[in-house]
Amino acid sequence: MRRPIIAGNWKMNNTASEGAALVAAIKPLVKDAKCDVVVCVPAIDIPAVRKAVRGSKIRLGAQNVHFAEKGAYTGEISANMLKEYGVQYVIIGHSERRQYFGETDETVNKRTLAALAAGLTPIVCIGETLEERESGKTNEVLSRQIEKDFAGVEDLSKLVVAYEPIWAIGTGRTATAEQANETIGFIRKRMKKIYAGKNAGRMRIQYGGSMNAGNCKELMAMPEIDGGLIGGASLKAPDFAAIVNFDKE
Ligand code: PGA
Repeated sequence: MRRPIIAGNWKMNNTASEGAALVAAIKPLVKDAKCDVVVCVPAIDIPAVRKAVRGSKIRLGAQNVHFAEKGAYTGEISANMLKEYGVQYVIIGHSERRQYFGETDETVNKRTLAALAAGLTPIVCIGETLEERESGKTNEVLSRQIEKDFAGVEDLSKLVVAYEPIWAIGTGRTATAEQANETIGFIRKRMKKIYAGKNAGRMRIQYGGSMNAGNCKELMAMPEIDGGLIGGASLKAPDFAAIVNFDKE
């Protein structure tokens, strides 16, 4: 069985003190969580949020990592820098980074390998645009991302994939549970085929894109969906907690 994983992606929201206050509010609400719970926070919030999550099931995540160990990369943060602060997860290749910050499949692959080498769990985002979906190219785009982003990964169970259809991110327009389930099923099948013998069957695949307290139960009931990467709804304690507690009444 694959253990569900619910991760919040705060994006560029919450100062360190706001982040600590949000975690303090989430903590009591998720104490009986049966799934893995992660908050992926702005890098500068990490020390404060690290303190705030102490004594809870909430794990700490970052939103990006550089692929080099160290060196002349002004403004960047290495995997070891994250590790030293107790970070366990890192989002890689989010569509906003691909769209606004020149992230490519090649850099996603390099970051993924560097994160794994440092013992971090990458949450690697893949997904298609609206135009690609409407022109029937979803599977082609995903296949390309799968081939390039995970090249050279020895054990796929050590990472998490987030399937995020770009048209569903921050738009309020969710993929239907059936659509998400079908596409994630496709991703898993491709992974198993391309990376035979690399533990693809044990790899967890999240859905992301306008997942919220209202639709999480239906999405999480789908057999292929192993969790959620939550943007907007992760910024409000009751909403995020409701998603973490998707399996409760
Ligand atoms: P959203 O964002 O939940 O606000 O749609 C998801 C994401 O971008 O990870």
